[in-house]
Amino acid sequence: MKRAWWKEAVVYQIYPRSFKDSNGDGIGDLSGIISRLDYLKELGIDVIWLSPVYKSPNDDNGYDISDYQDIMDEFGTLEDFNQLLAEAHKQGIKIMMDLVVNHTSDEHPWFVESRSSKDNPKRDYYIWRHGQNGKEPNNWVSCFSGPAWEYDAHTDEYYLHIFSKKQPDLNWENPQLRKEIYDMMRWWLDKGIDGFRMDVINFISKVEGLPDAPGEGYQWGGQFFMNGPRIHEFLQEMNREVLSSYDLITVGEMPGVSPEQAVLYTGEDRQELHMVFQFEHMDLDSGNGGKWDIKPWSLHDFKQTMTKWQVSLSGKGWNSLYLNNHDQPRMVSRFGNDGEFHKESAKMLATCLHMMQGTPYIYQGEELGMTNVAFSTIDDYRDIETINMFRERIQQGEETEHVMHSIHAKGRDNARTPMQWDDTENAGFGKGTPWLPVNPNYVSINARQQWSDPDSIFHYYQRLIQLRKQYELIVYGSYELILADHPEIYAYTRKWKNEQILVILNFFAGTPVFEMPQDIRFAQPKLLISNYSVDQNENIRNISLRPYEARVYHFIIS
Ligand code: NOJ
Repeated sequence: MKRAWWKEAVVYQIYPRSFKDSNGDGIGDLSGIISRLDYLKELGIDVIWLSPVYKSPNDDNGYDISDYQDIMDEFGTLEDFNQLLAEAHKQGIKIMMDLVVNHTSDEHPWFVESRSSKDNPKRDYYIWRHGQNGKEPNNWVSCFSGPAWEYDAHTDEYYLHIFSKKQPDLNWENPQLRKEIYDMMRWWLDKGIDGFRMDVINFISKVEGLPDAPGEGYQWGGQFFMNGPRIHEFLQEMNREVLSSYDLITVGEMPGVSPEQAVLYTGEDRQELHMVFQFEHMDLDSGNGGKWDIKPWSLHDFKQTMTKWQVSLSGKGWNSLYLNNHDQPRMVSRFGNDGEFHKESAKMLATCLHMMQGTPYIYQGEELGMTNVAFSTIDDYRDIETINMFRERIQQGEETEHVMHSIHAKGRDNARTPMQWDDTENAGFGKGTPWLPVNPNYVSINARQQWSDPDSIFHYYQRLIQLRKQYELIVYGSYELILADHPEIYAYTRKWKNEQILVILNFFAGTPVFEMPQDIRFAQPKLLISNYSVDQNENIRNISLRPYEARVYHFIIS
């Protein structure tokens, strides 16, 4: 397996709107991020992934871009960006930008031109079609409720938008459009940025003819644009034209990607991307009705899914490792216990992820164990996906309480409440009223409290990050699941040369006994990290685990 700095790195995702507000307008900004670089340095991360900071009317908080080469007014200016980049580099921290090129804002000049007439040179930059019998060109549903097509009376045609109607899809079949995107990417890379996280990048190639999806009413058309016919060709072109000329880190967000496809996207000989964000583990608590149709997740499925990705990509591609981000609920509320065992379970989940093979991503506030939030009324929510879904289900006659229950479990604003810096007003996020209310638990869960507590979740993350720097085994070692059928324990090993680590995780509040499998032969056991204090002389062939206990042992293979 080839070594690479991006395999050895730990990435920290910043959602700028919610990170740190420096000017009191209630919205996080670039100067706020600059003022917290020391914090990130202390945590020990190597790369920041910045969710979009480009000019945007904010229909989807920056994922609707109206100018790729300028900064959103609320976040600051290009000068602020240059300063952020310079200061981060001074601290040895790299910056990875979000690249949102499946769609733009409808306020992007390309779209303004495109919709102006059928013969405008930019008409073909987007996907325009005639209606069918006074209805949309096909039956696809948008990710944010309602049809994926919007009628434009001016030219009597519809345009495709897989997300909101203010996010028209770009037409990647058009070579001129692709060239403009590559020019824009080079402009950022020449400025010195260190990589791209590519938003729904496996949606850019649509099946010719845009066929109807099976079923009545509006239907998910993913099979006609996820991993579409020209996707590898487009990514290889992008790699040839842009990526291959720089030393950078790339990750493609890819709903609906399988491990076999991920090998094609990330294989070393393929010249496409370094890694992908897959979603299989994020779908474990969704029923047939999709993300809002909540079902309990099972540890058995969780282990099988994580293991499948670990094993399938080993030596063939590269994994990204994440348990939450700005689109997902907080991991401690979802897979851990955000009540009695908050601290223990946050550390246990972090151990689970950070000891695996792949590049770990930490989402802002995760390192403090920030939790989901349960606002009592829809008026406190800001996310377009949540608000549209609420309206649609209420219209269909569902009980408010039932809909709010889904929102509390799965809504994206769970992850977007302002970062909890301290226990002062607005959690120390900023002086103005925050754009989204703070989570009331900031009084006890906040960075200032955790800095002063050596046993805090923050300091535990610091140690996990340091271990990855100390042991190349943690980066490159092979993974093996053990005790596959244990209902409460997730345990796995990693092996590299003559070394091995054993990761033991109790996923629940019970007290199961870990019994070492006979075929694990070891010498010189050393405890690398744990979330409880451990007696060094304990016989580790049989360990009575405490609620949500996590331990990592290092052995020499005997
Ligand atoms: C995925 C992003 O992570 C999400 O926040 C956004 O709404 C959609 N793509 C559309 O850009």
